[in-house]
Amino acid sequence: MGEHSLLYSFQISEDAASALQKLPACIDEVNPVPERRRTELRYNIRDLWRSLTMERAHRTIDYLNNPAFFSAYLRYFMPWNLVRLVALLTELPLELSADATIIDMGSGPLTFPLALYCAKPEFRKAPLTFICADRTPRIMEAGRLILELLAAKHGGELPPWKIELRHARFGEPLHEKASLFCAVNVFNEFFWHHEGILSEDASELYHRTAQYCAPQGKMLIVEPGEPRSGGLVSAMRAAAIIGGNEILAPCPHAYACPMPGIFKSGQEYLIGHPRTLEPVRMPAPRAKYPWCHFSVPAGFAPRWLTSLSEEAGLSKEKLSFSFLFVKKQSVQKKPSGGHLPIHDSSHMQSATVAERAAGGLTCRIISDSIALPGGRTGKYACSSLGYTLISADQNKTLPESGVLLRFRLTHPRGMEPRGSQQEALEFDRKTGAVLISY
Ligand SMILES: C[S@@+](CC[C@H](N)C(=O)[O-])C[C@H]1O[C@@H](n2cnc3c(N)ncnc32)[C@H](O)[C@@H]1O
Repeated sequence: MGEHSLLYSFQISEDAASALQKLPACIDEVNPVPERRRTELRYNIRDLWRSLTMERAHRTIDYLNNPAFFSAYLRYFMPWNLVRLVALLTELPLELSADATIIDMGSGPLTFPLALYCAKPEFRKAPLTFICADRTPRIMEAGRLILELLAAKHGGELPPWKIELRHARFGEPLHEKASLFCAVNVFNEFFWHHEGILSEDASELYHRTAQYCAPQGKMLIVEPGEPRSGGLVSAMRAAAIIGGNEILAPCPHAYACPMPGIFKSGQEYLIGHPRTLEPVRMPAPRAKYPWCHFSVPAGFAPRWLTSLSEEAGLSKEKLSFSFLFVKKQSVQKKPSGGHLPIHDSSHMQSATVAERAAGGLTCRIISDSIALPGGRTGKYACSSLGYTLISADQNKTLPESGVLLRFRLTHPRGMEPRGSQQEALEFDRKTGAVLISY
């Protein structure tokens, strides 16, 4: 295939890296920890990490009301979330107007406004309004002070942002409507208490989320990079598309998700629904389906954070997450007449293939490198064809996780026209993925 252009990648700019260097001084000023308690802090970080990554039955729900965990969250969890979020936001086209209203649900220490400050300098002079909502108000107050200190230290002035802190839970009404609604690392804190069917409960969650948005408003949902969250995000995406909304990222198409994880077994409900998602090439049948998630290198983090993590015995190589960026459509699409069932489509119709690959193919890189037979290397990707494996000679470096790239050639390898409108795809025998050569 060869010729391609890069449309998006996770990035931390020099300016953002310099802002992140100033963060510990701001946190220390807002939440001082005496020297004699610094060792204890490492244990608190470990304990909170254990608690947050444990099964929900053992989870300490009110961790932010515990002073030791409060400090641990501010010094370890918030900065890592910030690094992930800055990497995601830097090139993400938010396209906010200067007077936009942003609702940040489960804002915690205002991680999203802090990330926006670091990642998008163009908004530092815009009169944005932030409605930060959380069930724990104290952590938001700490976050607001940290943001003010950071802006003063880094930019020499406060941005003209109106920041309102609301003691509210998800689902409670807010009278403002958002140009951008964010929920970052929040849904996993309460969604898994659900007792029902994943697809239905995720659809309900999506629709409650959309109610916070103005017409044409956008929603950014970020969840930890673990399998359940990947399945939840895929299920919310299906609900968004069926409701006629536009997926802005990460998906390069609005067909069925080829990496739905646990949502794979929950898709059947869509059969018989007046609108369903068109099938794509799915991975070969297996007990556990791949789930869509991305990673950025831990090297994106400032040195002080990687050192603190090592001291706490929690050193990282990469940071994983799943995300969904959706635009709400004011006029919901009418259900189309016929529908295509969602299933393992091992034989996509050639006309569909021709249409989907005409003029090029946009792919989102999902995985790390894997070794392939014949001395080649590969990475899994998502494309409008479905589950895709991009392979290259070992001496070539494939783009990183999260990269969106567009192949320009109209007739990539394995997709040359054969007779009238006929195109054939080449598949990886083991995984079932569509094979594309880099
Ligand atoms: C893991 S923290 C994430 C904070 C911040 N968004 C970040 O990424 O660092 C989850 C936050 O969600 C809040 N939260 C959990 N369930 C909530 C709910 N039902 N309504 C509002 N906030 C909630 C918690 O109090 C906590 O501040």
